[in-house]
Amino acid sequence: MVRYDPSFYAGAAIHYRYGRPAYSPQLEAVLAEELGLDGSGRLLDAGCGPGVLTVRLANMFEGAVGLDPDPAMLAEGRQAARERDIANITWIQAVAEDLPAVAPGPYRLVTFGQSFYWTDEVRVAEAVYDMVEPGGALVLVGHHAEGRAVPPSPGPPRIPHDEIEELVRKYLGPTRRAGHLVACNGGAG
Ligand SMILES: C[S@@+](CC[C@H](N)C(=O)[O-])C[C@H]1O[C@@H](n2cnc3c(N)ncnc32)[C@H](O)[C@@H]1O
Repeated sequence: MVRYDPSFYAGAAIHYRYGRPAYSPQLEAVLAEELGLDGSGRLLDAGCGPGVLTVRLANMFEGAVGLDPDPAMLAEGRQAARERDIANITWIQAVAEDLPAVAPGPYRLVTFGQSFYWTDEVRVAEAVYDMVEPGGALVLVGHHAEGRAVPPSPGPPRIPHDEIEELVRKYLGPTRRAGHLVACNGGAG
């Protein structure tokens, strides 16, 4: 966990909306099946960034909240929702450590899309535990689960990770950074 610093994602929002690999096309079906979702209740997408998950999942709930400390990320989320005529999302600028006060429950589902590791995990998990309704869930959404087969690509060509790493090393040096600090997770975010 690293204390949030506004420089972490400065300038990244637009690229996060368009440039990140999409989550699995099976995500909605798996969530609906595993959690018995029936359109009721609310979603909280914490560390929502440009609202990739918030916008994708909002219509599976009566209402949704996208929460992120970075105002440019939230602006991208608002824009993405407007473009899709999705009107049931509230956007909140805050860190997850300030839950539950900034976005009180109850929620049917609380998601963290590659954002949980940025938070004070135990404190945030304990807060979220008290915010989900009976039968609700906290779900960490990512691209891989350790010990499981890598799922089929959603379509776009393979990301050239090795070449990108090489470019980063060439221009920025071997130490991975987040904003003006050193990255907490080896730069996976
Ligand atoms: C890797 S991005 C993921 C964005 C989005 N969830 C997605 O799946 O594309 C991580 C996000 O976590 C946010 N973040 C960083 N520290 C946070 C904290 N303490 N609480 C909540 N969000 C945080 C960042 O602003 C950033 O938008």
